[in-house]
Amino acid sequence: MRLSRFFMPTLKETPSEAQIASHRLMLRAGMIRQSSAGIYSWLPMGLKVLKKIENIVREEMNAAGCNEVLMPTIQPADLWRESGRYEDYGKEMLRIEDRHGRDMLYGPTNEEQITEIFRASVRSYRDLPSNLYHIQWKFRDEVRPRFGIMRGREFLMKDAYSFDIDHESSKSAYNRMFVSYLRTFDRMGLKAIPMKADTGPIGGDLSHEFILLAETGESEVYCHGDYLDFDVPPDGIDYDGDMQSIVDKWTSLYAVTDEKYVAEEFDAAVPEDKRLHTRGIEVGHIFHFGTKYSEAMGATVLDQEGNATHLQMGSYGIGVSRLVGGIIEASHDDDGIIWPEAVAPFHIGLINLRPGDDATDAACEDLYEKLGNAGVDVLYDDTDERAGGKFAKMDLIGLPWQIVIGPRGLKNGIAEVKNRASGIKEELSLDETLNRFTG
Ligand SMILES: Nc1ncnc2c1ncn2[C@@H]1O[C@H](COP(=O)(O)OP(=O)(O)O)[C@@H](O)[C@H]1O
Ligand SMILES: [Mg+2]
Repeated sequence: MRLSRFFMPTLKETPSEAQIASHRLMLRAGMIRQSSAGIYSWLPMGLKVLKKIENIVREEMNAAGCNEVLMPTIQPADLWRESGRYEDYGKEMLRIEDRHGRDMLYGPTNEEQITEIFRASVRSYRDLPSNLYHIQWKFRDEVRPRFGIMRGREFLMKDAYSFDIDHESSKSAYNRMFVSYLRTFDRMGLKAIPMKADTGPIGGDLSHEFILLAETGESEVYCHGDYLDFDVPPDGIDYDGDMQSIVDKWTSLYAVTDEKYVAEEFDAAVPEDKRLHTRGIEVGHIFHFGTKYSEAMGATVLDQEGNATHLQMGSYGIGVSRLVGGIIEASHDDDGIIWPEAVAPFHIGLINLRPGDDATDAACEDLYEKLGNAGVDVLYDDTDERAGGKFAKMDLIGLPWQIVIGPRGLKNGIAEVKNRASGIKEELSLDETLNRFTG
């Protein structure tokens, strides 16, 4: 992509409304634009990252044996009357009346909707276990939307729902999601720690929040520092294999959100030098809630003996849009964002220091074309902005690599290659530069 053709309205000034780094940097890098409180448009740079995150989530859900569906954003109120949550959910739910006077709502979550789909189509234990998920926009009329897309009113969530015949297999479903979440966040370059959590309005008896440690997070957390060095389950792991031992390991040490915190327990369980009492960003939340919705909504299947049995269920959320902010909170410096490679909007930023200079243009065009042909995603700064502005902009948008080409280096056939994270610069020949990223 040529920067001259790319819609990326960056800001030089720091927007005054933004209180935390990720919000500031997302606005400055031209990734999002606020529409109204807690509601944002995603501009090309932001959307590219959002899609990358979404794709990692999707790949890991599919690897764990889940099926993707897409449920609507607008739901009928009657479904929520069945579960009793239409009244319970309160003002966070955006309620809408259609032209026929029917009560509708913009979904804050989809337990009722998926239970309705399942009860209408599945009759037998033979069709279990099953896990259906979608990646869809949600609306919650938060009292205090803040920190940009971190706590929005409209936000993108991956929500999965498991259906099982009995408590034991339902626990296995929970464990599979637990393990797949460890992998998902790790692939994005994040350390997310599963912490015992309250179940809140979703209900249920077992729940973990996956939390990124960050001073700017909204949750107060208490955990054992050794979690930061734990190994994450590998790619290609067999989800029909032993998940329990992984879950046991990742729950062996103390880690809780403040609702579950008990001072004496923390002090007894964690040696003083390992105690982390800090704040964190909740990027995922998994719940096991058994028959809460299946009983309320009459969702049963026939078991092996032919008896109607209420489905055992769990639900599993990931804040896809929140992750964009979470990753920036975890990875930035004074100059801007530092994207982990897996979610970077482009792999390389190519800077032409002297557009209009024939040799420089030719070298840049040639490299840009060859990298593109090799499938490397390059943002080519072909604009005639001055060099200082170009460097600042590249650092701000945080692509993992920068290649700088100008007349002076070119005299010796040299380009400068910079790693954004380490700041290390190397001088390479044009061929070496190409090989570095295509070889
Ligand atoms: N207002 C919001 N803005 C952005 N992401 C959100 C918001 N609310 C929830 N999420 C994300 O969706 C995931 C699942 O939501 P859930 O646990 O049901 O919500 P909550 O923790 O607010 O009760 C959360 O872990 C979080 O990552
Ligand atoms: Mg939650």
